[in-house]
Amino acid sequence: MPTQAAGLQSAAASVVQHRILILDFGSQYTQLIARRVREAGVYSEIFPWDIAESAIRDFAPDGFILSGGPESVVLSEPPRAPDLVFDMGVPVLGVCYGMQTMAAQLGGRVAPSAEREFGYAMVTTSADSRLLQGLADDLHENGDELHVWMSHGDRVQSLPDGFEPIASSANSPLAGMADERRGLYGVQFHPEVTHTEQGQRIIERFVRDICACPDTWQPGNIIARDIENIRRQVGGERVLLGLSGGVDSSVVAALLHEALGDQLICVFVDHGLLRLNEGDQVMAVFAEHLGVDVVRVNAEDRFMAALAGVSDPEEKRRRIGRMFIEVFEEQAAALEDVQWLAQGTIYPDVVESAGSSTGKAHVIKSHHNVGGLPDRMQLKLIEPLRDLFKDEVRKIGVELGLPRDLVYRHPFPGPGLAVRILGEIKKEYADLLRAADAIFIDELRQEGLYDQVSQAFAVFLPVKSVGVMGDGRRYDYVISLRAVETVDFMTASWARLPYEFLDHVSRRIINEVPGVSRVTYDISGKPPATIEWE
Ligand code: XMP
Repeated sequence: MPTQAAGLQSAAASVVQHRILILDFGSQYTQLIARRVREAGVYSEIFPWDIAESAIRDFAPDGFILSGGPESVVLSEPPRAPDLVFDMGVPVLGVCYGMQTMAAQLGGRVAPSAEREFGYAMVTTSADSRLLQGLADDLHENGDELHVWMSHGDRVQSLPDGFEPIASSANSPLAGMADERRGLYGVQFHPEVTHTEQGQRIIERFVRDICACPDTWQPGNIIARDIENIRRQVGGERVLLGLSGGVDSSVVAALLHEALGDQLICVFVDHGLLRLNEGDQVMAVFAEHLGVDVVRVNAEDRFMAALAGVSDPEEKRRRIGRMFIEVFEEQAAALEDVQWLAQGTIYPDVVESAGSSTGKAHVIKSHHNVGGLPDRMQLKLIEPLRDLFKDEVRKIGVELGLPRDLVYRHPFPGPGLAVRILGEIKKEYADLLRAADAIFIDELRQEGLYDQVSQAFAVFLPVKSVGVMGDGRRYDYVISLRAVETVDFMTASWARLPYEFLDHVSRRIINEVPGVSRVTYDISGKPPATIEWE
């Protein structure tokens, strides 16, 4: 009979036994391809296009997807896929630039299109391709039609030997190609974006049917794998985690607790710049509900003292970062025999900091979470979420028993309300902002609007404007409300919240929060404005 450990081990191994290698040519959509493959239940990883062949062999993929990219194969020395990709005998799907380089590398011809094609297009598919057959948005006598998203300047002009056309559009007569015998496919459009209506089914076709990968990449299996990896890595040693109450550190806490029980100890630093009741909620969820060992440090006074008189945004961030480390280190020093430090690094951080070799699509993050710790702490680092996307982190969080509200919360910056109080920070301002913010968020939840916006919050402006309350004139502060819609937080548009809703929130804030006489709504997009006011 297998032991429990052996049972876990087989779950852990099987979850990544089948995998897809995504070769990144610098498209802004590369991470989306990886996510879609995983949504189809198959593990995938992104590698730069110029990866060494030995690394490809080590990864041993069941299939490749070549991403799009900003380059042109008709220029001299364009990025190319390693020859091994086409020689390994596993299926390959080229998307946009990926299709073009596949065509060019295998003997076809690519040329600039007469017109750049960007946006929705209709493609007609031919009946006999394993990739596309039976997938259609509209049925027509002369072929099925797909609504797809195109974004390209070049197009395939003639196919390499062995390939047949499988899709065509008005602008791209060769919008899809296949060499069924060798399992090589190319599509000029982007199946990974949601505008391509059958996109997820096309990806599933490729990874599940053509590459023959079972759908083992599921939350329960991922947790089993992670638990086994954590136990193997840490053994009987103790792990320290800085718990912020944000999604990533919360899921790390739940996962480590599941794997290690009381070998995990968390430190939660309340810097006085949290949202209303946030500290108590964190303690309720982790210490009381999950039974995690959490040390709560009430450091509000120390943070306020360190921030007194400082109004420069960068200086505020620096001081908060420094104080955070100072408080955290004091706590760590008091804990005996801790050998590991856990962090909530997730896969997009890893991909973005590694950078692609083309270096074009990856925007460098300009800020970091509070809590980068100095080397002198001499702890070994464990990052259990390193290969997970945010949506996967959320799914395993729910599976581990964390409250849905916590797991699907809007992002909250490490420096907390400090970036939402303009100028100098005072406890009085933080209290006022907390109260206004709580009303806004509470109303969004009640009206079912919370999940429709990506991030919403209140901002405190340290200017006084005139107002009338009862019979008297008052000079009180201004609160600005901000709610945005965004996919990646790199660009965002302001949320078109209903006027009646905004009216109601404004009245509640002015009536219920003493010290506020005016509420405004921020209608700036990003760019040019950022999401936070700083
Ligand atoms: P901006 O203001 O740059 O924000 O448009 C983009 C996203 O990042 C969050 N943000 C931060 N997160 N530490 C964080 O952990 C920070 O210093 C920080 N600054 C901004 C912001 O809330 C938004 O989601």
